[in-house]
Amino acid sequence: MVHFWTRKGSFRFLKSLYKENGNMALNDHFLWGSATASYQCEGAWDLDEKAESNWDRYLHVNGLENGDVASDFYHHYEEDIRMLAEGGQNAFRFSLSWPRIISDINGTVNRKGLDFYHRVIDTCLRYNVEPFVTLYHWDLPQYLEDEGGWLNRKTCDAYLHFAEVCFKEFSGKVKYWTTFNEPRWTIFNGYLIGNYCPGHHNAQETTVGAYHIMLAHAMAVNLFREKQIEGKIGIVHSYTPVDGVDDRPETLKAMRYADNYCNNWVLDVAAKGEIPEDLLDALSEKGIDLSFMKEEDLQQIRKARVDFLGLNYYSRALIKPYTEGETTLIINNKGKAAKGTSKTILKGWFEQIKDPNSEYTEWDTEIYPKGLYDGLLRAQERYGLPMYITENGVGMYEDVSGYVEDDYRISFMNDHINAIMNAVDDGADVRGYFAWSTFDLYSWKNGCEKRYGLVAIDFNDPKLERRPKKSYQWYKKVADSNGACIVRKSY
Ligand code: BG6
Repeated sequence: MVHFWTRKGSFRFLKSLYKENGNMALNDHFLWGSATASYQCEGAWDLDEKAESNWDRYLHVNGLENGDVASDFYHHYEEDIRMLAEGGQNAFRFSLSWPRIISDINGTVNRKGLDFYHRVIDTCLRYNVEPFVTLYHWDLPQYLEDEGGWLNRKTCDAYLHFAEVCFKEFSGKVKYWTTFNEPRWTIFNGYLIGNYCPGHHNAQETTVGAYHIMLAHAMAVNLFREKQIEGKIGIVHSYTPVDGVDDRPETLKAMRYADNYCNNWVLDVAAKGEIPEDLLDALSEKGIDLSFMKEEDLQQIRKARVDFLGLNYYSRALIKPYTEGETTLIINNKGKAAKGTSKTILKGWFEQIKDPNSEYTEWDTEIYPKGLYDGLLRAQERYGLPMYITENGVGMYEDVSGYVEDDYRISFMNDHINAIMNAVDDGADVRGYFAWSTFDLYSWKNGCEKRYGLVAIDFNDPKLERRPKKSYQWYKKVADSNGACIVRKSY
């Protein structure tokens, strides 16, 4: 098929390899954006009365690479948002730093923190860029971590206060809100796997933390409804569609354990107000004490339903039944030095295995766009809600001393956007796509050498000059054509 496409005054000659009758482009309201998170890009860690965060403390105390400066978005936001808009993007996903906004345990509001985000949001609006705001992307105030962090029920109340301040302050300007970024990774890595702060290995704590974070989510959604805040509210989940090695009954059982572990405890709660019963049974069987669950909390959870789901997609999980050995959870945060060391075994539940036919990054992430197609259709069927791909990207080592010709990223993004377009053709209600990340930034525990950006930053350059990569120019064409220039194939 050969098409002419007009947008923003330019003609484009496009070829599609796509199957007959597939949509050539997504609709005009589709959000084409990119994403960041406060700790990973802002820097200015102790400026303008910002309180210390749990990540500040944890990385400083352990002498690890930190985000003290990172991409210095705090001082470069104007330029970064202008570049994003010039790159054809109409949406910017970023998070608000809780310790920048709420100074202390008494809930004191830091005007300077709010003013910074007003400047960021106003800049977005000036460039016709939709601000897509995450309330919490893992940087907890240290004064709350000192009181037990997500293990303490009071953190839910503190979060509600923070959310209320933000809703009130930015309402009218922000139309898309999400309560949390990836409850799974912040809780599992912090309390079970131990590679994120506070670095614990404790299944009971993990369950309590998971419960509190989803309760805090529900409390914020209910407040959003009560106060009749303008706009839509959702949650962002690290979506890991689950596949099985075969369809034997024991494999299907293992897949259900894996789906509960990876996805359902977040998505079922957010979309349906339900905690999976069989997950609670399985936790009890493992000896987890669930007496911390209170009826009044469950009422909050049952009533809170999101308007949309934000799904971050990096990869799927390929599952086989559990065979033997202790629970083993190893995440490769060292890249090529540790390639192939990642391991996930949940004793009695399931094992995650590698697909010998797939390609894996240096950090052991499988590149599997079909998982996104499958996952979107499954989520559509299960929840029936509008969906946004709130993160998708590939982490690479890159030499940023010259122009970065990141053809691998272009190919990765092409294939994943293709998967989204195929899913839309087959009935998935997907309304936006955010590349991770807007520019190079700090990757948790992997440092700055694991790069995802559409724009390169040389972290050794004191000026932190921004230089578009080839993928930035390519993504502009995608956004300008609403996806019509994506090379299509079906699965
Ligand atoms: C998501 C997070 O899990 O994946 C981001 O929301 C993160 O904050 C991104 O940076 C990529 O993961 P990583 O570990 O490679 O930085």
